[in-house]
Amino acid sequence: MVFHVLSLFPQMVAGCMDFSVIKRAVESGLVTLDCIDIRAFSSSKRSQADDAPYGGGAGMVMSAQPIVAACASAKEKSKEAPVIYLSPRGEPFTQRMAEELARESALILLCGHYEGIDERALEEIGAREVSIGDFVLTGGEIAAMAVMDSVSRLVPGVLGKEESHQFDSFSDGLLEYPQYTRPPVFMGREVPEVLLSGHHKNVDSWRRKQSLAITLKRRPDLLEKADLGKSDLKYLSELGYKKGMGSALKGIITVIGKDQMGIIARVCTFLSGEGINILDISQTIVQGYFTMMMIVDLDSVSKRFEELAESLRVLGEEIGVQAKLQHEDIFNSMHRI
Ligand code: ADE
Repeated sequence: MVFHVLSLFPQMVAGCMDFSVIKRAVESGLVTLDCIDIRAFSSSKRSQADDAPYGGGAGMVMSAQPIVAACASAKEKSKEAPVIYLSPRGEPFTQRMAEELARESALILLCGHYEGIDERALEEIGAREVSIGDFVLTGGEIAAMAVMDSVSRLVPGVLGKEESHQFDSFSDGLLEYPQYTRPPVFMGREVPEVLLSGHHKNVDSWRRKQSLAITLKRRPDLLEKADLGKSDLKYLSELGYKKGMGSALKGIITVIGKDQMGIIARVCTFLSGEGINILDISQTIVQGYFTMMMIVDLDSVSKRFEELAESLRVLGEEIGVQAKLQHEDIFNSMHRI
């Protein structure tokens, strides 16, 4: 795996593979880090790589020219490498994405700074935007390092047998169980007895239960997508879990009828009056028929779902359209069928 990192501050990244498991991977040639200084590709006299934003506003925007040139130089070395732009507005980086990226032989990681990058550069290089979380860093370097670290350890041969990633948190959609090592008692705290028993089946079962309990407590949303067996579900229900509990409560509103003035305004006024947040909306007119679909957030709504659905239906009747509120879950289960 070759990582080409395009950055204004390549020194920030240069030493990040000089330690531990990843250092070993670099030494054995499984992973290579190629830091590229974007500024060195600037065609301006003073090697300028940024400029003030068109349309005004604070800060500087990274110019397109040096980025496109720096990326072309990386592409010369790794023709097929996908380009990833680390940015807080990107799609979320997940273990699944790490697994997908680890199947590539090279990656080009573009790190932004300041107020972002000229959009035309991103279009030109066909960058996939990736975020490592819902927070804003001063630049993409730390995010690139996080991506490189998690991808590197999935490259075959990087982890020894004893460091296998097979049981990682997330690899089966659950968080990892707690681990213990010697001594058996530390400051009065004992290692769970089952782990000292040498009974592998009981150890596995204990670990699975711990994973389930921790995931339910910390990330119930993960349970909705996790690969769960019958015994997992039985244990989770003993802990008070019900299917769908972890998902944010979303509703789907459809409005259909003969087009007329003010339908959207009436529906939106109704929703804001009920404290319902619109997450997404699509509206069109088909041969004089008004059609609208909305995804709404019902998490913070105090009224019962049925009551809301009925109020919306009545409002629709008043306007002269059919207005319906349904649970998102219905659509998800229809999809599964
Ligand atoms: N650059 C700045 N913030 C970032 C984030 N959260 N993820 C990826 N890149 C970033």
